[in-house]
Amino acid sequence: MKILFATSETVPLIKTGGLADVSGALPDALTRLGHDVRVLLPGYGTVLAWLGDRTEVLAELHLPPFADARLLGATLPNGVPLLVLQCPTLFGRDGGPYQQHNHEDWPDNNLRFGLLSRVAALLAHESSPLAWQPDILHCNDWQTGLAPVYHAVQGGAHAPNLLTIHNLAFQGIFEPATLPRVGLPWDLYRVDAVEYYGNVSYLKGGIQFADRITTVSPTYAQEIQHEPLGFGLQGLLAWRAKDLSGILNGIDTGIWDPASDPLIPARYSASNLRRKELDRAALREALGLEALPEVPVAGIVSRFTHQKGLDLVTACAEELLRIPVQLAILGSGDPMLEHAFRDLAARHPGRVGLRTGFDEPFSHLVEAGADFFLMPSRFEPSGLNQMYSQRYGTPVVAHATGGLIDSITDLDAGTLRAGTATGFLFREETPEALLGTVRRVADTFRNRRAWRRIQRAGMARDFSWDAAAEHYVELYRSMAGRR
Ligand code: ADP
Ligand code: GLC
Repeated sequence: MKILFATSETVPLIKTGGLADVSGALPDALTRLGHDVRVLLPGYGTVLAWLGDRTEVLAELHLPPFADARLLGATLPNGVPLLVLQCPTLFGRDGGPYQQHNHEDWPDNNLRFGLLSRVAALLAHESSPLAWQPDILHCNDWQTGLAPVYHAVQGGAHAPNLLTIHNLAFQGIFEPATLPRVGLPWDLYRVDAVEYYGNVSYLKGGIQFADRITTVSPTYAQEIQHEPLGFGLQGLLAWRAKDLSGILNGIDTGIWDPASDPLIPARYSASNLRRKELDRAALREALGLEALPEVPVAGIVSRFTHQKGLDLVTACAEELLRIPVQLAILGSGDPMLEHAFRDLAARHPGRVGLRTGFDEPFSHLVEAGADFFLMPSRFEPSGLNQMYSQRYGTPVVAHATGGLIDSITDLDAGTLRAGTATGFLFREETPEALLGTVRRVADTFRNRRAWRRIQRAGMARDFSWDAAAEHYVELYRSMAGRR
C-alpha cells in the first residue's frame, strides 16, 4: 500500500517527545513489511540545515490564503522517503517546532500547522501535484488534525484518512477568526464541527471528520471516552467509538538494545546482567552519586510537565531517600519542577543527581544504569520509556494508566511465581501510593533471585514495531477502497 504519514516531528531530525520516535519507527517498520511510505514534515530551520543539498524540488505550492510554499524530496537516514514542506515565512526560524526560545507558543501556529494539514490533504487528493498518490493518509495529533477537515469540505476524490491521537491534552486551540485565515468556511464553526468552547480545535476537527481514529494504546482509547481524560472531547469520542481503536506503540529495538547500544559504556544481555553494574557505576559518576552497593538507583527521563506526575516524587522525596534509594534524573520543562529537583539535588548531594536539558545519549545511560525506573504519569497515552526500561533490565514503577497498564505486568504473588511480572503498578495517584510501591521495590530488590526474574521477564518482552505495524496495515486495508 501507499501511505502518506503526516507528522510535525520525526527522529533523527526533530524531536520534542514520543511522537518523533513513532514517526521514525512506524514508517520504517511499514516499509520493511513491503509498503511504500512517505513522511511529510515541515521544513524547520534545523531540517533544512540537515538536508543541505541532498534534496530536489518536487512541487511549487500556491494555496491561498497561505503563503507560497514548496515541496522538497529527500530520504531519511533509514531510507524512508521524506517530503519536506518548505515555507520560510512559517517554518524557517530558530527555536522549537511549536515554541519560541522563551517557551511561548509561536503566535502563528494556527497558520503553520494549518498549512501542514492543508498540504497533507492535498497530497492525498486527486488534485495532488505529485504523480505518487497514497491509498491512505495517516495524520498525527492536532498539528495535522485539520487534514480530514479539508477533505470533508473540499469535494473531489481523496484517499481515506486516519487520525492517530498521541496526546489529547494538546488540541491546537485557536481563536475563531483562524477559520478564514486557513481557508476554511465559517460554516465549520459549529459544535458538531471544529468549535470548542468558543474557540477552534484542530484536534476536535480531526476527530469529527477522520474516517478512522486510533490512539497509541488500547487502554487509553477507552479512557478518553470518559472524564477526566477525555479533556472535554469524551462525548465526541464515545460517539465515534466504533471508528476508534488503540494500537500500542512499539520501540525501535535497533536503537534501544543493551546488547549493542554504543551510547552506554558496558553492553549486556539477560545472560550477563552483572555487567549492568558497570553502567550504574558510570551513571553514578556522571551525576556525582555516591557508590553505595546496597542502595538502588531510581531513574527518571521525562518531560517535566503536569502529565508526568513528577510532583508526586518531589512531594515524598525525603521519605524516598530514607528508604534508601538514590535518584538519577534527566529532564526539562516546567521551571517549577526543574527548580524543585535542583533544590533537592543541592540538599542531598551524592543521593540525588540531576541533569536538565534534552540529552539523548544520556537518556540511554539512565535506562541502562538505573536499577529501576519511575513513571508516575497522571495519564500516559502509550509511553515509551517503560518499554526501553524493561528492555534494559530496569523494572518500572508506574501509575496504572493508559499504555503503562498495557505494557507492564504488575508484580503479585501469582505473576512472580509464573515469572511474568515485569514491574510495579500503583493505582492511587498519590505520593503515599508511590512511596509504598517504592518500599515494595526496595524489598524485592534485596531478593536477588526474584529481582533477576523480573528483569529477565521484562527483557524477554517483544516491544518491537513489527506487531504494531501489522495492526496498522490491517486497519489501512479495512479503510482502503472505502472511497
Ligand atoms: P512523551 O512523548 O509524552 O514525552 P514518551 O514516553 O512517549 O513520552 O516519549 C518520550 C521520549 O522522549 C522518549 O524517547 C524519552 O527517552 C525522550 N525524552 C524525554 N525527555 C528527555 C530528555 N530530557 N532527554 C532525552 N530524551 C528525553
Ligand atoms: C505522546 C504521549 C506518549 C506517547 C507518545 C507517542 O507524547 O504522551 O504517551 O508514547 O505520544 O505516541
